[in-house]
Amino acid sequence: MTRQTRVRAGAAIGVVAGVLAVAAHAGPDDDDLVINGEIEIVTETAAPEHIEHVGTIYSGWRFRSDETQAFQVDDFDNPSMIWVEQAEEVWNTAEGAAGKSCASCHDGSDSMAGVRAVYPKWNEDAGEVRTLEMQINDCRENRMQAETWKYTGGEMVNMVALLSAVSRGIPVNVAIDGPAQSTWEMGKDIYYTRYGQLELSCANCHEDNYGNMIRADHLSQGQINGFPTYRLKNTKLNAVHARFKGCVRDTRAETFAPGSPEFVALELYVASRGNGLSVEGPSVRN
Ligand code: HEC
Ligand code: HEC
Repeated sequence: MTRQTRVRAGAAIGVVAGVLAVAAHAGPDDDDLVINGEIEIVTETAAPEHIEHVGTIYSGWRFRSDETQAFQVDDFDNPSMIWVEQAEEVWNTAEGAAGKSCASCHDGSDSMAGVRAVYPKWNEDAGEVRTLEMQINDCRENRMQAETWKYTGGEMVNMVALLSAVSRGIPVNVAIDGPAQSTWEMGKDIYYTRYGQLELSCANCHEDNYGNMIRADHLSQGQINGFPTYRLKNTKLNAVHARFKGCVRDTRAETFAPGSPEFVALELYVASRGNGLSVEGPSVRN
């Protein structure tokens, strides 16, 4: 991957406009999201202090059409819920040489309420920042003696969807200080680095141009509180790192691998840009 000059956010609107024909500005709408008539989702709040160029943060839901938004109002209409149910079965099924299921040690999946909101998170024993996927595979390998799951594979994304579903409504609150700080800095650096032939950083699109239309798509702030996302485009659940990969590819750059230290760091940084928004996943996007 070619790493080019780090740019200040706000400097490259012209580049994006020129290369990708950014059209009329239409900011986030002012709809409210309440799921199943009871889970209130914060889709807009003041940006956390560590975010320099944005005053208000918005969930990607606020940039979707009314038709797409409607899928999330009731779980019966949210196509993701089929896979959440499958993950619930897996949660309760023993697997691996230790003869244990997730439930053997963690009780019901609802015992995980709040966990999604604080990941990626520093793990003291391992001495690393862990994503949920890394933690799940650690439990599978070392506690269950079961095979690990592919990082963005079906079983993994389903389980992450279940863990997100039981945290819905809880504010994202990842820690970025202490031992997590160097990982966070690395993620921030990646966020502001221009990649690929188009020489675009995440910030050029999701910080400088959110609200604008780009190739018939309404650009959001690229928040990850809604992950995993069911996309109408590919009719499946999409993991965070798969989305990162797609966005980097769109700049015509070689991308980092899902689960790589670079994407783990980027996930921590992007998650921290959403501190204060509710966990909303599994969500529906186009
Ligand atoms: C044999 C017991 C055992 C089994 C089985 C097990 N885990 Fe764990 N799990 C643990 C322990 C112990 C921890 C705390 C480890 C740590 O903090 O390093 C943990 C931590 C976690 C966490 C992080 C919780 C937090 O608050 O940060 C998640 C998520 C998790 N497990 C998911 C799963 C899933 C999903 C499965 C099934 C695929 C599973 N675990 C199976 C013992 C188990
Ligand atoms: C060329 C512009 C462009 C660049 C550069 C770009 N993205 Fe995106 N991204 C998009 C578009 C278009 C979408 C789909 C509409 C939306 O949700 O913003 C999107 C969607 C996303 C989403 C899904 C948001 C949601 O609510 O579902 C995330 C997360 C994301 N991008 C992260 C990133 C990250 C991290 C980077 C840098 C590695 C990046 N993007 C670089 C254009 C871009």
